[in-house]
Amino acid sequence: MLAVKVPKKEAEKTRRKLLELGVLAKEYSIKREGDFVLFPVTKPVGGFEVIETEFERLEKRPHSYREVVEVPEKLRPLLPSSFDIIGDIAIIELPEELMEYGKVIGDAILRVHRHIKAVFAKGSKVEGEYRVRELIHLAGEKRTETLHRENGIRLKLDVAKVYFSPRLATERMRVFERTKPGEVVFDMFAGVGPYSILLSRKAKLVFACDINPWAVRYLEENIRLNRANNVVPILGDVKKVAGRVKADRVIMNLPKFADRFLRDAMLSVKLGGVIHYYGFGPEEDLYSEHEAKIKAVARELGLIVEFIDRRKVRPYAPRQFNIAIDFKVE
Ligand SMILES: C[S@@+](CC[C@H](N)C(=O)[O-])C[C@H]1O[C@@H](n2cnc3c(N)ncnc32)[C@H](O)[C@@H]1O
Repeated sequence: MLAVKVPKKEAEKTRRKLLELGVLAKEYSIKREGDFVLFPVTKPVGGFEVIETEFERLEKRPHSYREVVEVPEKLRPLLPSSFDIIGDIAIIELPEELMEYGKVIGDAILRVHRHIKAVFAKGSKVEGEYRVRELIHLAGEKRTETLHRENGIRLKLDVAKVYFSPRLATERMRVFERTKPGEVVFDMFAGVGPYSILLSRKAKLVFACDINPWAVRYLEENIRLNRANNVVPILGDVKKVAGRVKADRVIMNLPKFADRFLRDAMLSVKLGGVIHYYGFGPEEDLYSEHEAKIKAVARELGLIVEFIDRRKVRPYAPRQFNIAIDFKVE
C-alpha cells in the first residue's frame, strides 16, 4: 500500500498534517525503518516522498460485548445495549430467554471491558426495607465488594448487601450544586453515603441515617476513606431520629416509600429549609399525586410549602420515571 516516508524528527508534524488532510489509514500501524518513519496513507500526498510498502493491520477492538458474544441469531435483538458498572463489577438485566447464555454473555463483557472483574445478572427487583436485589453470578470473580468512584469521592460497598445505583450520580451532583456552604444536611436514607459524603464537602454537618447495618458499616468506612469527618452516621429507623435533627436541607432518597416519611422530613427541616423528595410517577402525570401528598402533610403540620423545582431523574420502568421534587418549608 501507499506510504509517506519522512525522517524521524518530522514524524509528529507529519502525522498531524496527514490527519488534518484525512489521508492517514488509521486501521494500519505506523512503522519505523532506520531513521525514517512510514505512514500508511489512502492516496498519494503532494509535498511528501510517497513509496509502496506493506503495513500490519491493527487489531480492531470491539466497543460492545454484543460484537463478540455468541448467542443464537434469533436472540440477538434481546441482548441489552447497556449494563450498570459499580467499581469493577458489572450488573446486567437479562430477559428470561437469555439466562441460559449468562456465562457466555458474562465472559464477553469481561473480554471487552478489561477493567471489569466480575459480572452478575439481576435476579430480582430491588426489594424490602433495605432496597437490595438478588444477584446471579455469571462470570469472573465471585466477589460482590468493590470500590466505586463517583463525583470525586470513593465509595466502598457490597453490591449484594446494600442499595447503590451509579445512575444517580448526576442527580447527586445537582443536589450538591444547590447546597450552600455551612448548611446542616439530613440524609434520611443515606445508604453507603453517596449524597452525604459529597455534600460534606460544602456542608458544616451531615446527619446520615440508614436502617441497614451493612450500609452503615460501609458508610463509616467511606467516611474514613474520604476523610469526611463532618458526617455523623446513624444506624436505625429514621422515624426515631426525625424531629431531633434540625437541618437546612433534607434528602429523602427512598422513592418507593418517601411519602410515608414526609411528616418526619418536615419535622426535621428548619423554617426556610429545603426538602429533596424522590418518588416514582407515570409518564402522563409525573408529579400531581406526590405534590398533593406533600401539601396535605404540610397542612396537617400548619406549614406552607413552596415548590422550587421538579424533574425526571431517570426512567424506572416502561412509562414510569424516578422523579425529584424540591420544596421549601415556611
Ligand atoms: C434507595 S436507597 C438510597 C441509598 C442512598 N441514598 C443512595 O443514593 O445510594 C434507600 C435506603 O433507605 C434505607 N431505609 C429504608 N427504610 C429506612 C428507614 N425506615 N430508616 C432509615 N433508612 C431506611 C435502606 O436501607 C436503603 O439503604
